[in-house]
Amino acid sequence: MINQKQQTSFYLRRLMDMNKKIVMSGIRPTGFLHLGNYFGAVKNYVRLQDEFECYFMVADLHSLTTHPDTKELKINVQRVLSENIACGLDPEKVALYCQSHVHETAELYLYLTMLAYKGELEKTTTFKDKVRLQPENINAGLLTYPVLQTADIILHRASYVPVGKDQEQHLEMARNFANRFNHRYGDVFPEPQAFNFGDELVKVPSLDGAGKMSKSENQFATLYLSDDDELIRKKVMKAKTDSGPTVPNSSKPDYIENIFGLMKLVSSPEVISKFEEDYNNCTIRYGDMKKQLGEDMVKFISPIREKADAIRNNEQYLKEVMEKGAEKARKSARATMELVREVMGLNYF
Ligand code: TRP
Repeated sequence: MINQKQQTSFYLRRLMDMNKKIVMSGIRPTGFLHLGNYFGAVKNYVRLQDEFECYFMVADLHSLTTHPDTKELKINVQRVLSENIACGLDPEKVALYCQSHVHETAELYLYLTMLAYKGELEKTTTFKDKVRLQPENINAGLLTYPVLQTADIILHRASYVPVGKDQEQHLEMARNFANRFNHRYGDVFPEPQAFNFGDELVKVPSLDGAGKMSKSENQFATLYLSDDDELIRKKVMKAKTDSGPTVPNSSKPDYIENIFGLMKLVSSPEVISKFEEDYNNCTIRYGDMKKQLGEDMVKFISPIREKADAIRNNEQYLKEVMEKGAEKARKSARATMELVREVMGLNYF
C-alpha cells in the first residue's frame, strides 16, 4: 500500500518528466519599453510562446529594492503589461502575471536565502552598482536580489530564461543556488540556462551613433514604443550624419551603419537596397533617407502604441489578465512547493 503522501509525490515527479521545457522571464516595471527592448527581448518572448510553456512575470517586488514608494507601482505595472501584450504576448498562451500575486515566491526565497552566502552576494556586479547609486538605502533586499530572482525562475522549474547579457551573472547565481538546493535536499530543480536565438540576437543602435538604445542613455537617441508620430520623426531626423561619401563603395562610419541598421529592422528590402546603392555611388541624401526611416518607424511603432493605449485604458481587461496569469503561475508554484517541502523534510504529519 502506498500512502497519500507517496502518491502525491509520485504524481508530481511524473508531471515534471512529462512536461515540455519551461521558459520563464521577468520584466522590470520601471521605465517605458523602447525599440531595444522590443527587438532584444519582447519579440523573443513572442516567438517562444508557441513552443514552450511560458511564464512571464512583472517583477514588482524587485522594484521595491530601489523604489520603496509604491504610489506609481500600479500604473507602472499596468503600463508594462499593456505594452507587452500590444507587442504580441498572448495572455491566453502564456502565464502573464505579477510577482506579488504568487506568494509561493516569498516562501521559496526564504529557503534559498539560507543557501546563499553573504560573500557571493556582495560580489554581485549589480549589487555593487546599486551601492554606488543609492548609498543611503543599501537594504537587504538589494543584497538578496539574485536570490529572489532565482526563486522566480525555479519556482516553475524553468529550464530557459530569455534575458539580455546584463543578467548573465544573476543566472549563473541561479544555477548555483538551484544546484546547492538539489545537492542538499534532493533533485527538484533543472539548471536554468540563458536562452537566446544565437546569431539572430539583434542589437538596436542608438540614434546618436553611440552604443545601443537604452533607457538610461540619451533620451532623444532612444525610440520608445509610446512616442507619438511627430516625436518619432523628430528623433529620427536628428540622427547624426555627415556630408556623405566621396569615394564610391567606401566603408560606412559607425553612425551611418547605425541608420542602415535601424532601417533593416523596419523598412522593406527594396528601400534598403535603394539607399545602399545610393551610398555606394555617392548620391545618397541623408535627409531623404532619414525621412523614409522616420515614416517606416511611425508605421511600425504607431499600431503598437495605439494598441497599448487601448489596453491600458481597459482596467477590467487588465484585471482579468492578471487574475488568469496569477492562477496559472500559482498552480505551477504550488506543485513545486509541495515537492520542495517534502524533500526538505518539512512535512511533519
Ligand atoms: N532582474 C531582471 C532585470 O533586471 C528582472 C527579473 C526579475 C528577472 N526576476 C526575473 C529576469 C526572473 C529573468 C528571470 O531585468
